[in-house]
Amino acid sequence: MAEQPLTRAVLWLERTAPLAAEAETGLVAVLSAPERARLDRITSAKRRAEFLAGRLLLRRLLAGTFGGDPFGWVLSAPDDLPPTVLSPANGVHLALSHSGEWVAGALSATPAGLDLETPGRPRDTLALAAAVCTPDERAHLAGLEGPARDAAFRERWTLKEAWLKRRTEGASPGRLAQVATCLGDGGDAWTWADAGLTLAWVHEGGLPAWFRPGPFGDRPPAAWRVADSGGH
Ligand SMILES: CC(C)(COP(=O)(O)OP(=O)(O)OC[C@H]1O[C@@H](n2cnc3c(N)ncnc32)[C@H](O)[C@@H]1OP(=O)(O)O)[C@@H](O)C(=O)NCCC(=O)NCCS
Repeated sequence: MAEQPLTRAVLWLERTAPLAAEAETGLVAVLSAPERARLDRITSAKRRAEFLAGRLLLRRLLAGTFGGDPFGWVLSAPDDLPPTVLSPANGVHLALSHSGEWVAGALSATPAGLDLETPGRPRDTLALAAAVCTPDERAHLAGLEGPARDAAFRERWTLKEAWLKRRTEGASPGRLAQVATCLGDGGDAWTWADAGLTLAWVHEGGLPAWFRPGPFGDRPPAAWRVADSGGH
């Protein structure tokens, strides 16, 4: 398949369990060699389900966008990097994220950052913010209380991770603290959030098209501007 232009990124947010169950009865037998090697190293059932669901979701996105059989797409599986399309090579960029019961994947013409977070166990949000937030972000969070503070922190955290994932960096606390987030139009970063799920999207190409309707429906995202003092 020749190089294909992708004028707008495509994003799909789906529940992990049904995709993983389907993958176990089909995709698992036709994974690429690098995917097979990654899967063989996974020991946790949750992580196995996430990995397989992500791989099936990406293949369906590719086939739904560019055509062909979902199982005809051969993907790489590097550690600590997003997968790439090995064959049929078409230059498209892939992004993945897993959290809680959810998996999200995207296709884009240039690298995109995608991250999902779901609420976890209760934690000391201000102590975490001291490690990963800027002074302005910490002041904002200190002015909130309880669930509103936790949700606001989760939204910034998700956005910072997506920002770093677009750059294929790791998310150490010091690096997260260099990524300053501020609500406002004119940037290349967006978040959708409700009580159970936060999704962040970072892309120079703007907002993606939803591949299938998802939990955020037609709701407009929050727009953010990001200043990265550690970028090079
Ligand atoms: C990369 C990182 C931010 C991912 O965040 P996370 O919330 O733990 O995991 P998510 O589910 O959101 O994302 C994982 C997916 O993103 C992709 N991915 C992995 N590392 C990535 C990176 N550095 N940049 C972009 N995407 C990455 C993979 O596709 C992965 O899914 P898969 O393992 O099923 O293929 C986090 O794992 C991290 O900081 N890792 C440290 C490793 C590191 O230092 N990597 C940098 C290498 S230079």
